[in-house]
Amino acid sequence: MTDPLLAFRQEFPILERSTYLVSNSLGAMPRGVPDRLAEYVDLWAERGVRAWRESWWELPGKVADEVAPLIGAAPGEMVMLPNVTLAQATVLSSLTYEAPRNRIVMTELDFPSVRYVYDHLATRLGAEIVVVPSDDGVTVELDRLLEAIDERTALVAISQVLFRSAYIMDLAAICAKAHSVGALVSADSFHAIGVIPVDVRESGVDFMTGGVLKWLCGGPGGCFLYASAAVRERLEPSLTGWMSHTRPFAFEPDMEYAPGIYRWLGGTPVIPALYAAIEGPRIVRRAGMEAIRAKSMRQTARLIELADARGYEVYAPRDASKRGGTVAFAVPHAYEVSQFLLSRDIVIDYRPKAGIRVAPHFYTKDDELEAAVAAMDEALQSGAWERFAASGAVVT
Ligand SMILES: Cc1ncc(COP(=O)(O)O)c(C=O)c1O
Repeated sequence: MTDPLLAFRQEFPILERSTYLVSNSLGAMPRGVPDRLAEYVDLWAERGVRAWRESWWELPGKVADEVAPLIGAAPGEMVMLPNVTLAQATVLSSLTYEAPRNRIVMTELDFPSVRYVYDHLATRLGAEIVVVPSDDGVTVELDRLLEAIDERTALVAISQVLFRSAYIMDLAAICAKAHSVGALVSADSFHAIGVIPVDVRESGVDFMTGGVLKWLCGGPGGCFLYASAAVRERLEPSLTGWMSHTRPFAFEPDMEYAPGIYRWLGGTPVIPALYAAIEGPRIVRRAGMEAIRAKSMRQTARLIELADARGYEVYAPRDASKRGGTVAFAVPHAYEVSQFLLSRDIVIDYRPKAGIRVAPHFYTKDDELEAAVAAMDEALQSGAWERFAASGAVVT
């Protein structure tokens, strides 16, 4: 039976030239992006500063509204920001951390960049960071996490899908526990959006951050922050800027926070990135999250099967309902093997403590999975991996 999702391959030029299995890092560029960027250039060239009034001012909200349906949010509930680290910093800056409620609960497997900003900025604001450990480097035990959330917790700031292992955390259970003790939840859903169904209403999450550059094929610079109705106009981020002011063009000396989502925007957005960000989420919406998720579960299961048949260790949950879109192969000499694959235009990435991350997406053909694992076999069996001995080079 033919896979209807493969019809979308024609939208992504890079798929004609490479085996592209790295949408967990940077999704393929849609064919329509150059035209979008040309619109940006033309507007700037022809209209100059008037572009702000005619289009750009609205863009951080408009582009976010294209992504909103993919997380079950309504128009006006999300805004675009340059990166997730900044978005999470904006969230943490909206709370106060006074004992006894001064704790932020995180996990050992959250993305380091986000951990850095909590460790370094939130602690300066008086927060105490509680890090829930992982026993196996793949999962974080739900009960242990729930136990760490109590009346001393101001915020739970966790990844919805863990970046190394693609383990899916139970966001609804985490929100339920946090809310029962008066804490808020900020989910970093970068590895969830566009590859698993996400629903902010179902989980009841207070804040959600993510970006279009991975599974949404929208390029770097297009990240977003969702704030629920419960917090959106009640809290005031102290990491702010003139675009968050209710009268930005009055240039008043004192801050008066805007109503609505622009209160979370801060300073000037990265306009070209917003043009590039539009096409990918639209294609993902056309492909449909249910179909994308079903295919992802099937293809990641196939990858695990291929690994098992060879005795390769994988860092990925065996239970498909707990597994996101990536399977990490902890093969021997994983770094060198990853470089061998890249030399064959099989595009994957390598992460320490995970190995070679293989990330099929809705446009991936089944035989591309076989080709990637066959190339790992070849690199190991022929000894070709030795030619790629660690050089410290930057990898994808
Ligand atoms: C879970 C997660 N959070 C955040 C980031 C990146 O954050 P930023 O947008 O600040 O670069 C990544 C990047 O891979 C990630 O995997």
